Parts: sequence; structure tokens; C-alpha cells
Amino acid sequence: MSDWENRPRCDEAPAWALLAKEKQRFVGEGATFDLRAAFASDAQRAPHFALRAPQVFADLSKNLWDEPVRALLTQLAAQCRVEAWRDAMLAGARVNVSEQRPATHVHWRWAPEAPLAGGNCAADALDLQATRGILDDMLAYAGEVRADAAITDVVNIGIGGSDLGPRLLAQAFAATAAADGPRVHFVSNMDGHQLAQTLRGLRAESTLFIIVSKTFSTAETMQNAASARQWFEAQGGRDAARHFTAVSANTEAAARFGAGRCFGFDAGVGGRYSLWSPVGLAVAIAAGAQAFEELRRGAREMDAHFARAPLADNLPVQLALLDVWQRNFLGFSSRCIAPYHHGLRSLPAYLQQLEMESNGKREDARGRTLPVASAPVTWGQVGTNGQHAFFQALHQGSDVVPVEFVLVRRAACYRPGHQEKLLANALAQSRALMLGQEGDAPERHFPGNRPSTTLLLPDLGAASLGALLALYEHRTAALGALWGVNSFDQWGVELGKRHAGGIERCLGQGSSAGMDASTGMLLEEMRAAPNA
Ligand code: F6P
Repeated sequence: MSDWENRPRCDEAPAWALLAKEKQRFVGEGATFDLRAAFASDAQRAPHFALRAPQVFADLSKNLWDEPVRALLTQLAAQCRVEAWRDAMLAGARVNVSEQRPATHVHWRWAPEAPLAGGNCAADALDLQATRGILDDMLAYAGEVRADAAITDVVNIGIGGSDLGPRLLAQAFAATAAADGPRVHFVSNMDGHQLAQTLRGLRAESTLFIIVSKTFSTAETMQNAASARQWFEAQGGRDAARHFTAVSANTEAAARFGAGRCFGFDAGVGGRYSLWSPVGLAVAIAAGAQAFEELRRGAREMDAHFARAPLADNLPVQLALLDVWQRNFLGFSSRCIAPYHHGLRSLPAYLQQLEMESNGKREDARGRTLPVASAPVTWGQVGTNGQHAFFQALHQGSDVVPVEFVLVRRAACYRPGHQEKLLANALAQSRALMLGQEGDAPERHFPGNRPSTTLLLPDLGAASLGALLALYEHRTAALGALWGVNSFDQWGVELGKRHAGGIERCLGQGSSAGMDASTGMLLEEMRAAPNA
């Protein structure tokens, strides 16, 4: 019997019906809850809804909930046996039931220790000594590349989890000037313009390509890798084995490609959880082994918090519960991510994959149709840019969208001129969303009572980044555990890939046989206006 069969799904837990009653105070005709009144009547509301976790201070007080709701949600987590699920995941049990795999990302940041000294991994999880050995090899190689004056540019070719996490981290380290290695570029898209633009100005003899693909079969990555190889040869590049390195769980396919070095990892690491494995090679090259180890340390601190803090004080769990409340009871269908740091500009894109690929499912892990809504749309943009784009709709639009502000207290540069204004803007937005304003004209009326969460990091150092990303991973998987969905598979991406193969053949053959009328018409239209 799998862990999933032992645990009630959130809608089956006794607290669910009680929460449904509470909901009436917050939404609909008879709603009485108002954030402004809640703060006015409770001087302790702010500290009461603040949580401290390693590297992260979280203010959850500007959300549409109160203590009775939070207590019921915490009971819900206990009734769904989230702690037992968490312990099973950390112990290396096969929580990814559809693929019969453990989820080993946490093991990569603890190796050679077992996570939280919680005993050995389950037999089919990981050889932790070997895992540490792979990391050591990877970090030593990163050091060699950094020391090699002949390599000025590194191009990471990968997509999804083989791109988004490393890209986010490389950008964060670059923004804080902690990336002191060669220039690192990221190419992900099937659209050849991205590769072409990246390669413009690079030279074969000074470029290292890292082909990152868990499966080593992803169409985009294989196409970009082949084109990069052609470019390398056309530029007169020699010793391709030195200039092409692979990172993959499919080391045989990577070897067939002809990479000189290949760093392997286990199939239990989900792509979107994989930056702790050799998938993080580009990050280690950009910022060095010490930064990579700091990143792991920060993540371990968050792991320990997730594993040990009581449910009521457990930040990943409380954020997941708030997500359940907002999605399933208040009916919010999207969540806006507003990171106020240039180095975190790819956080919304990273979280889109982490959250929507993990929990965007309509069946639970036991194959039953979910009776409740799952992953909302995750979207957003770096602040203050977002303020001049979509914040109008957040303040006065017809939909209520919870906003998650991610702030960094200490700036690495230009502090006096920029940082105070940046932080002031972020705090101003959450305050304005909550307070609103009575207007002397309709267009000047702001309804207020609009929810937001603020996560505050001390700085954008490696440890803070590690803790932040581990926080999001645990929150996402805990939310999946509450909804009863398997957060570690992604079957929903397969169908489109299969269709693409058939349509590509049609494009090549100039036929539209077997296509639906709309696709056939578009194929005809493309034929009439050829690419030439
Ligand atoms: O198609 C979705 C997906 O499988 C993601 O889950 C994954 O991160 C991405 O493609 C890339 O996969 P790979 O690392 O195997 O190339």
C-alpha cells in the first residue's frame, strides 16, 4: 500500500467542512472580514501572523484569514498526515507513485549525509557516498573551467528544469557581483533565434557548451545541441570533447553525443527540482564551488526547518495551507509573484514550472478525479517594473489576486540611491492593496482589502537563495500532498510533444493528411506563404 492510500486528501479531512463554513465570513454576499478592521481590532495581528524560518522572515498578516481559519488549516495538515508524507519523502520512499521513484532532490543537498540524519535512504533511493563523489567531481571540474583562461563563455543548453533554476541562480549571482567566472549564457528555446543570437560574437575556441538534459532526448535541447555542434565545427573548432560537456541521468545517450565529460544523476531527481545535482554545473562555474556549497547549506537549513518545526510554525506548510485556503475556499485562480530584486527577475518563470508542472493536475495520485481546484496560475514580474504594467489591475481590477512580495533587505550595490526607494515601493504596494482608498471619483476609488504575503531575505547571498528555493520546493510538494496529487510527475506535457512530431512530418512533406480542419488550414496557409 503506498503512502497516498494511508492519508486522507484535504477534502476528505474533517477540518474541510468546518473551513467551508468559515469561508462565508470572507467571500460572497455576507462577508464580514476586512483586513483593515482585523488590524484595528487586534494589535498583535502582525506579529501573530509573522513566521521566521532560516534566512526568511514571512509576513502573512495581510492575507484574508484569521486565527480560527489558520487553526483549522493547521488541523487540516495534521489530519492529512502531511508530516508522515514529508518524512517518507525525506527517507527516500517512492512518493512519485506513477513513476515508482523516490524524490531525491533533498538528498543531493545533504549527501553524503542522509537528510536530517533521518536514517538511511530507502534501498532504491540513492548511494549517498557516490552522490557526494559526483558533486565533488562536478565542483572540481567547475574549478578547472574557472581557472582555464582560454574559456571565456559557457553556454548552458537545456530547457524547463534544466534551464530555469540554473538561469535564476546565475542571474542572482551576476546581479550581486558574486559571479566572477566566465560569462554564462542560457539557451533553451526551439526557436533558433535564441541560439543564433547567443552565438553571435562568441568564438569556438573560447566557448564551452554544457548540454543539460535529464532524459537526453528533449527535442529542444537535442536540436540546440546539434546546431551548436555544427556551429562549433563551422567555426573551425577543434577538440569537441573539450568544448562539449553533458549533464544527464541518461549517460549512455550523452556519451553517444560525444561529450568529453558527462556528469550523471539519478532518475529520482525531478527536472524542476534538479538544480542541486550536476544540473547546477553552470552555476558552479559562474560563482564557484564555495557559492554552490553555501547554496546547499542554506537549503539544508530550510530542510531542517521543514522537517522539525511544528505545523503551526512551519513556513512551507503554512504557505501551502494559505494556498489551499486561497485557491479552494476564497476561489482565487492566480497568484502574482513580485520579487523586488533584479537578480530574482526569473523567479516568476522558475515558479511557474515548479508550481504548475508539479501541481497542475486534475487527478489525484490514486487516479481519482480531484473534486477541488488544483494549481492556480503563477505569474508575475520583477518590481518595480510590474508596478508600471499590471499593478493597475491588482489594485482596481475585478479579480482579487494574492500578491507575493519577495524583498531583499541588503543590496550589494548602489544602496543609498536605489535600495530604500525599491523597498519603499514594495511596502507601499502591499499597504495600498490592503488599505485601499475612498475616492472622490470612481476612478480614484481603491477597494482595498486585497491580500498579499511578504517574504524578506537578509541579502541575496548563496545561503539565502538556497533557503528561498528550498522553501518554495517544500511548499509546492506539501501543497501537492494536501491535494493528494503527485508533485513529481508531469504526464501532461507528453501529448503536445507527440502531436509536434506528426505536424513536423506534415510540414516537411507538404501534406496535412490526418489533421483536424483548423490545423490543416494553418498548414495550408504556411505552405502558401513559405519561409523563403
Ligand atoms: O517537458 C517537460 C520536461 O520534462 C520538464 O519536466 C523538464 O524539466 C524539461 O522537460 C526538460 O527535460 P530534460 O531535462 O529531460 O531535457
